Amino acid sequence: MRRTTYFQRRGWRQAERFWSYVEAGINRLTSTRFNPLYHLGTLALFLLGVLLVTGIYLTIFYRPGADRAYETVAGISASPLGLLMRSVHRYAANALVVVVVLHALKMLLSDRFWESRWVAWVTGWALLGLIWFIGVMGYWLVWDRRAQWLTEYGAKLVGGSVALTFLGPDLASRSFAFFVIVLFLHVFLGILIFLGFLLHILRLTRPRWLAPRWLMVEASLALLLLALLQPATSLEKADFSRVVDNIPVDWLYLGFLPLSSRWGNTLFWGVALALFLIAVALPWLLPGRSAGPVQITEHLCTGCALCALKCPYEAIEIVPRSDESGFKSLAVIRPNLCVGCGLCIGTCAAIGIDLQTMPTSAFLDRWHDALAQVNGEDQRPLVIITCQRHTALGTFPTSTIPQETPHVGVERFTVDGISLPVVTVTFPCVGMLNPEWLRPLFREPASIEGALVVSCPTDDCAFREGPYWLVQNLKYRRKLLEAPLYWIEGAPGDRGLVVKWLRDFVRGEMAPTTRAQAWIQARLQEVPTWWPRQLRPFLAGLAVLVLVTGLGWIAERPATTASPPALVRVLMVHPGKLKTVQGTLSGEMAAKLPPGLTEAQVLGGERYPVQLRVEIDGQVIWEGTYAPSGLRREGLAYALENLPVTPGNHRVRIQMMDDGETWRTVFNGEVTIAAGRVVTLLYDEEQEAFVVFSPQP
Ligand code: HEM
Repeated sequence: MRRTTYFQRRGWRQAERFWSYVEAGINRLTSTRFNPLYHLGTLALFLLGVLLVTGIYLTIFYRPGADRAYETVAGISASPLGLLMRSVHRYAANALVVVVVLHALKMLLSDRFWESRWVAWVTGWALLGLIWFIGVMGYWLVWDRRAQWLTEYGAKLVGGSVALTFLGPDLASRSFAFFVIVLFLHVFLGILIFLGFLLHILRLTRPRWLAPRWLMVEASLALLLLALLQPATSLEKADFSRVVDNIPVDWLYLGFLPLSSRWGNTLFWGVALALFLIAVALPWLLPGRSAGPVQITEHLCTGCALCALKCPYEAIEIVPRSDESGFKSLAVIRPNLCVGCGLCIGTCAAIGIDLQTMPTSAFLDRWHDALAQVNGEDQRPLVIITCQRHTALGTFPTSTIPQETPHVGVERFTVDGISLPVVTVTFPCVGMLNPEWLRPLFREPASIEGALVVSCPTDDCAFREGPYWLVQNLKYRRKLLEAPLYWIEGAPGDRGLVVKWLRDFVRGEMAPTTRAQAWIQARLQEVPTWWPRQLRPFLAGLAVLVLVTGLGWIAERPATTASPPALVRVLMVHPGKLKTVQGTLSGEMAAKLPPGLTEAQVLGGERYPVQLRVEIDGQVIWEGTYAPSGLRREGLAYALENLPVTPGNHRVRIQMMDDGETWRTVFNGEVTIAAGRVVTLLYDEEQEAFVVFSPQP
């Protein structure tokens, strides 16, 4: 498979550009420092924390069991605190799905899923699957009409004794163990999520766990707001004597119920599974090509370990060294972990690290050649240093898009009618800029008009830490910072930001805050904050989060099922007659058999399938064959059929064949079914006939 570079994946870049426009729009209101979309991963973790805390509260008051669960949930909701906890729990669960899907989408669109990142990608999908499963169980525990739908769906799907457990007699006692198991899984699979998260971040150095404080405050407020505006409610209690009809379901978790009822299980789950597997396999189906892995020139390596310290992906190891170099240690690359960001190159004083796509020295030669070329012209150029995201997504009014990084381009930008010579230097990430490469440019007489770093927001680097390390690498280089070196950060593709700066530049009116010196100082002084200093970014961030959490709320829509106006439910657990007896008893054993017990009954063996034929008002509306369970077909046969009928009186006749040759009538009677009701006909082994059974709500 041909691996394409970030630039060559044009379709992806279009999609990423769209996403980036949204982020740029939010940045206009919140600033890059307070954009919630830059923290989706840690926001998801925060929501998990909220779920844990509110979940513990709910577990304390919840009691499992078909006869108690619904009532205890109602009890919890009766107190203001309980209702608040329940509602926050519900909305945090919904917001979690929205946030995780956005996080996954962002990773997809910014090409962060192949090569070394496959571990995070694959475990991410596992986490999403787990979240969904836990959420479905949460809805089941409430034991309302949604839980009823889930149960009927599960009973039909799994069949067997599960159907009898829930749809047959003694519901509360038979299903209690099930409740306990589901409650246990709902609570303890949450722990698996945290373990899965450890795998998720396995390949990251300094993974971020905690969302910024302001974001936690905003997210909490958004959840509280929704919880107060629209407290979570239960539907009516599960009642298997009623048909599940038009009920509101949370489409994020329970959407599979209406969809599979409309399209059929095979189609729905087939498509869902295929899409899931394709998504999981994307790192191998659509792998990209990075500029890495980097290579280390051993004789230049001093073993200073700075590259290993700064690598955001743990791709560099420092090992002891005993060669004639005189240095005690050596940096060694783990090629399968390297994502080719070049941060290590920006840090290496000895220029001892090269990207696979271009040796650092060759790249520096190109840079100098480009400057020499422009310097022959009338004006000194502006040097723009940026990353591949900005170049590919259209931040600059440039005519040429490179095919790979690092890249040096010579251009002329026309700003306000003035043509400006520009040398654009595109790295995979701005963190690859080694400050020492700038020094000669500013040496008197300076060969450039100025240099501008255009970086992604610090919290939104595609290589996690590029702008951060560039700040660190520059902060003590006073002379350099006094030179005309500028820095702006913004969402890739936000051309307006750059054009404004260029306009100020040609007029000589650049905002002092864009001086790299001022910029870096501001960054270094920034203290963790509970909320932005001004109200506007805070409120804008809050609005974004209300929207995100609100998406989960909107997801709760009525779901029309393919439910009929009334149902006859046929429920049977019954062994067919023995077809072949397995083995023989010794003469002595056979002689000792108690009266009435036959050899066949003791030994067992393969059984006949059970056939049912259901006639309603003289018309055969169902015929089915139910195979015996068990590997050797020696077990019980199970039947669960929901037969739609019109409300009113009906004559129902059921015939059964369980010996492979004779039909016998096992039910023949008049049943009255009201609209929206279910009449369950349950096979009674003692009476050898079906009886009308009324489930207790
Ligand atoms: C419970 C659900 C999830 C949580 C809590 C979560 C959280 C996180 C966090 C905190 C990071 C590290 C951010 C950093 O330090 O730079 C991360 C990285 C990542 N996540 Fe997730 N994530 C979840 C689900 C997903 C899903 C569903 C996907 C995609 C299918 C995904 C894909 C990734 C990738 C590819 C990275 C690595 C980014 C990189 O290497 O630059 N995550 N996630």
